Amino acid sequence: MLNYPLMSNNILHEDIDSLIDFLKHTDRFTNGPKVREFEEAWSGWLGVKHSLFVHSGSSANFMTMAGIREIYGKGEVIVPAITWESDIASIIRADLVPVIVDVDFKNLAMDTKEILGRITKKTKAVFLSHILGFNGLSNELLKVLQEKNILLVEDVCESHGATFRNEKGKIKKCGSVGFVSNFSFYYAHHISTIEGGMICTNDDRFYQYMRMFRSHGMLREADDLDFRQEWLKQYPELKEEFLFTVPGFNMRSTELNAVIGLSQLRRLDTIIDKRRENYQLFIEHLDSERYYTEFDNEGNSNYAFVVLLREPDKELFQRIVRVLSEEKVEFRRGTAGGGNQVRQPYVQKYIPGILAEEFPRAEHIHDYGLYIGNYPGLEEEKILAVCRLLNAV
Ligand SMILES: Cc1ncc(COP(=O)(O)O)c(C=O)c1O
Repeated sequence: MLNYPLMSNNILHEDIDSLIDFLKHTDRFTNGPKVREFEEAWSGWLGVKHSLFVHSGSSANFMTMAGIREIYGKGEVIVPAITWESDIASIIRADLVPVIVDVDFKNLAMDTKEILGRITKKTKAVFLSHILGFNGLSNELLKVLQEKNILLVEDVCESHGATFRNEKGKIKKCGSVGFVSNFSFYYAHHISTIEGGMICTNDDRFYQYMRMFRSHGMLREADDLDFRQEWLKQYPELKEEFLFTVPGFNMRSTELNAVIGLSQLRRLDTIIDKRRENYQLFIEHLDSERYYTEFDNEGNSNYAFVVLLREPDKELFQRIVRVLSEEKVEFRRGTAGGGNQVRQPYVQKYIPGILAEEFPRAEHIHDYGLYIGNYPGLEEEKILAVCRLLNAV
């Protein structure tokens, strides 16, 4: 029995020790100086001007789309068929129109040509997901978005530390390229604050809006005094303490989660390196005749190994699922978000008439793809054993 979980040992003693130490010496628990410290440390690590800590990657998605709708008005947002539920749900909830496009096998992200083919005058944003550690950006895409003044939102919830090489050959971290980017610190991700997420941007105005959206839409959450004055001048009859500018949420996290995040951030780069090594070993030993292995590995920061059949062979896939279950290897079918979102009831309800078959590559991944864990403490022998198992099924 391989006994191979999706994730192991993600919260370490050093994280718990720093939390206990913090608890002994603080009397402030809700969003405060530690959250601020974590946000600043994260901005430094990523290379962006502003970061805002929220209580999940999905909160980050919902706030981002609400902010885009609030500032830029109604329109369409291009989003992939392979992504997380909240990427599409956030567009729907913000009263924007999701335009779903198919993905590319090489990085499981939206196919650039498909995106370009769906851009219209109504396109407000492209909401790109970097799936399972693969960079999803291309220089061609960035060029067109810039020319057409379309916002790029990067979902980096599964890909902390993945990188992209821009047209000048400069290596940039995914999440530092777009207008805004969202991260998740859920338990199984690269680092964890148990639950948590981050919204990152270089845009001062959007950042002020995100600060307000995080806390009930309240003006006093904005920390730019000129920005505050603009609002106060318009509403002199309202009290500064209770000026609700936008239809906001309460998406705040706590000092406790930020302390865990700060402790984890110290080892993030080491974790990424270890996972890259694991991934390399896995991909080199997997049978490339049976499994798709030509992923675009440059800048990959993987936290789960993708097992994707080349051919649509239902019986073989069932055997793989059975053998992995017998060996107690934990897996998730369909890869990120369980596969083609178009098959899900919420998409069928809100985009009536959309057909799953219009997304053939997402369909193939849905039926013949899965992922298994890649965590820092994963033993070399276990990686080789799971490859032997998959190759022999
Ligand atoms: C691509 C992607 N986006 C967003 C999320 C949502 O993150 P969270 O679980 O922190 O809400 C996830 C899921 O974990 C995800 O995989």
